[in-house]
Amino acid sequence: MNEKFKAIVVNQSADHFSREVKDLDKNFLKDGDVLVKIDYSDLNFKDAMILKDGGKLIKEYPRIPGIDFSGTIEESNVGEYKKGDQIIVNGSRVGELYHGGYSQYARVKKEFIIKKPEGITTKQAMMLGTAGFTAILCAFAVKAREELLLGEKVNEVLVTGATGGVGSVAVMALSKLGCNVTAITGKMKQSSYLKDLGAKNVIDRKEFEVDPKLLGKGTWDGVVDTVGGNILANAISQTKHSGIIAACGNASGNKLNTSVIPFILRGIKLWGVDSVAISKKRKEFVWGETPKLIDFNTLEKSIKVVSLNELLSIFPSMLEGKLTNKILVDVNK
Ligand SMILES: NC(=O)c1ccc[n+]([C@@H]2O[C@H](COP(=O)([O-])OP(=O)(O)OC[C@H]3O[C@@H](n4cnc5c(N)ncnc54)[C@H](OP(=O)(O)O)[C@@H]3O)[C@@H](O)[C@H]2O)c1
Repeated sequence: MNEKFKAIVVNQSADHFSREVKDLDKNFLKDGDVLVKIDYSDLNFKDAMILKDGGKLIKEYPRIPGIDFSGTIEESNVGEYKKGDQIIVNGSRVGELYHGGYSQYARVKKEFIIKKPEGITTKQAMMLGTAGFTAILCAFAVKAREELLLGEKVNEVLVTGATGGVGSVAVMALSKLGCNVTAITGKMKQSSYLKDLGAKNVIDRKEFEVDPKLLGKGTWDGVVDTVGGNILANAISQTKHSGIIAACGNASGNKLNTSVIPFILRGIKLWGVDSVAISKKRKEFVWGETPKLIDFNTLEKSIKVVSLNELLSIFPSMLEGKLTNKILVDVNK
C-alpha cells in the first residue's frame, strides 16, 4: 500500500459540517482484519443523506462515507481471505459506524466481506450496490407467494419509484423471474428505459398519489415499494388475495395511511425489507443470483461513472429526486 491515499472525509465541528476529498495517511484506517484496495463504490439515498449533513447516521467524526464498495484484498490477517481475493462489502454499516467506500483503501472486519461471485466483475457489483441488492431481496419476498400458495404463479407485479436505484433493478429482476411488471414513475419520459429493463406497462405516479379506497380492484400478485406514503397505501388497497408487498423505502416520506381491511379480507402481507441486519449466508445467496437476474449491458446504459470530486457536486440531485442515472464511483478516477 502507498503511504498516502485519497478519500472523501466528512467532519462536524460545532455547527459546521464539511465534506472534502483529502490525502490521508494509511494510519487513518485503524481496526479490521483485511485491507482492501477499492475499485468502485456507488451512490445510495443513504449516502446522499450522509454527504449532506451526516443524516444522523454518523456517530463519530471524522468519517469516510460510502456504504458499499468492491475491490481486491491487499493484506489479510485471517485464514479465510487472502491477498488477491476480489470482494464486495454492503450493508455492514461501513460509511456510518466504520470508514466506508469513498476511498482508495478500506480496512474492514472479516464478517463484512462477501467474496465476489463468478460471473460478475467488481464494477458490475457496484452498478448494483445496496440498491440493487435490496431490489433482489424484495423480488424474492414477492415471489414467496408462490410457495405460500403451493405453486400459484406470481404474474402481475407493481414496482414503485421505478426509475430509482432499487426500483430499476426490481423491474429487471422480476421480469427475468417471469412476472409482468408494471412500473410506477414520476418520470414518464423514462418509459422507454423502463420498458428496456423489462416493464410491460408504465403508470404515472400521480394516479397513485390520491387517497386510497378502503379496498380497490385486486390487481397485483405482488408489489415492490420504494416510496411509502399514499403510493404504498394505494398499492396495498389494490393487491390481490394473499399478495405480498415488499416495502423497503421511504422516498416520498415516512407516513402510511391505510386500514386493516385489505389485510383481513384479502390476507395480504406487508413484508418489510432491510438490507443491513441480514446474515452473511443470505448476502452470499443474493449476490450469487445476480448473474442470472441482471442484464448488465442494459443496466450499464443508465450508469454514470464519477470521481470522488465529481460525487461531491452530484449527490444533492439524488435528494431532490432529479437523478436520471445510477451513479458509480470510480475511486481511482
Ligand atoms: N430497506 C433497505 O435496506 C433499503 C436499501 C436501499 C434503499 N432503501 C430506501 O429505498 C428508497 C429508494 O432508494 P433508491 O436508492 O432507489 O433511491 P433513488 O435512486 O433516489 O430512487 C427513488 C425513486 O423514488 C421516486 N421518488 C422520489 N421522490 C419521490 C416522491 N416524493 N414521491 C414519489 N416517488 C418519489 C423516484 O422514482 P420515479 O421518478 O421513477 O417515480 C426516484 O427515482 C429510499 O427511501 C432508500 O432509503 C432502503
